[in-house]
Amino acid sequence: MNRKISERIRYVGVNDHHKVIFEGMWPLPFGVSYNSYLVVDDKVALIDTAEADFSREFLSNIREEIGDRKVDYLIVNHMEPDHSSLMKDIREQYPEIRIVTNAKAVPMIKGYYGITDNIHVIKEGDTLDLGSSVLSFHLAPMVHWPETMVTYLTEEKTLFSGDAFGTFGAVDGEITDDGAHLCGWLDKAENCFEEFKDEMTRYYSNIVGKYGQTVQAALKKLSSLEIGRICSTHGPVWQKHIPEVVSFYDRLSRYEGGRGVCIAYASMYGNTAKAAKSLAAELAARGIPYTLHNLCTENVSYAYRDAFKYDTVAIGAPTYNNDIFPPAYNFMYGLCARLLKNRRFFAFGSYTWAGASVRLLNEMAQKQGFELISEGISFPQGFTQEKCDMGRIAELMSR
Ligand code: FEO
Repeated sequence: MNRKISERIRYVGVNDHHKVIFEGMWPLPFGVSYNSYLVVDDKVALIDTAEADFSREFLSNIREEIGDRKVDYLIVNHMEPDHSSLMKDIREQYPEIRIVTNAKAVPMIKGYYGITDNIHVIKEGDTLDLGSSVLSFHLAPMVHWPETMVTYLTEEKTLFSGDAFGTFGAVDGEITDDGAHLCGWLDKAENCFEEFKDEMTRYYSNIVGKYGQTVQAALKKLSSLEIGRICSTHGPVWQKHIPEVVSFYDRLSRYEGGRGVCIAYASMYGNTAKAAKSLAAELAARGIPYTLHNLCTENVSYAYRDAFKYDTVAIGAPTYNNDIFPPAYNFMYGLCARLLKNRRFFAFGSYTWAGASVRLLNEMAQKQGFELISEGISFPQGFTQEKCDMGRIAELMSR
């Protein structure tokens, strides 16, 4: 891999193809990268570290770039352990290194790693002179942890953005969006942004989704910076597709869905599943984009992605214990916890002797501010077209 993003900026991150589930929840079909960068000047600054399993590779990457030179500063933009776990290893390798971060990170550094010394605390707008270049620091609280900040290198118009603008997907081979390729994808797409877009949506919706308001505040604050390159902690370095990436992130954080329907269902004996598939067929007949997710067999990660991607969410759940069948409840709860808004909503599901799931899903949806496109379809026992007129629902969804 060519690590030289520019003469000053070197990529020293790693690609993780071992981990199957990120954060104990989210599948990684294309792996994930933990990006870290060196800014090499009279002084050398390292921006974030990497995940705990990669110490040897990470330290070797640094040494390959700067040889026996020492690293003077470790800039801590974000304390989540996928980026901070090698802090102690770095201190052992470079005992004089000075940690540069904001006040909110200080107790986390102590709590996670027992480190309390040689920490320089910066405030909003502070700068750090490296020789011929200057780093400036900008707090971005709750994007998506309280200590999150970004670092800007004026001389290169480069934003080290932490998790912001990040995506799942390893970036072996080429790190910049001139040539980055989603590992495991069959063919390389013409456009790197298009190739990573779905994995970026999944990363955003799964991990950052709740914090749309603070992401919006950060985007507003950063709009005064001239950004020619974005070095995030996950996925490609963006330099060719910055307008698309920034505008896409803006839409995600405003909870703006595109036209289409995320159908997510859970079914015990196949009747709610038949209703879901009937809706899918009616949407297909009308040319309305949709995805269909079985919440009993599939990791919920993908349904979250599509609930953020599309402007309409349809959830199917049988009644269970006079309540919503748990896999569907879990999904609906997750949408509410992510503060998803601006969505049209439709609930459906079967029951045997008393229906409750559709009413309860509608109540959750209304509390969330979703627009109900109908009263929902709660049907007794087996599925039939007569009980579930999904053609009518698809017509409403087409408007
Ligand atoms: Fe990639 Fe919030 O850590």
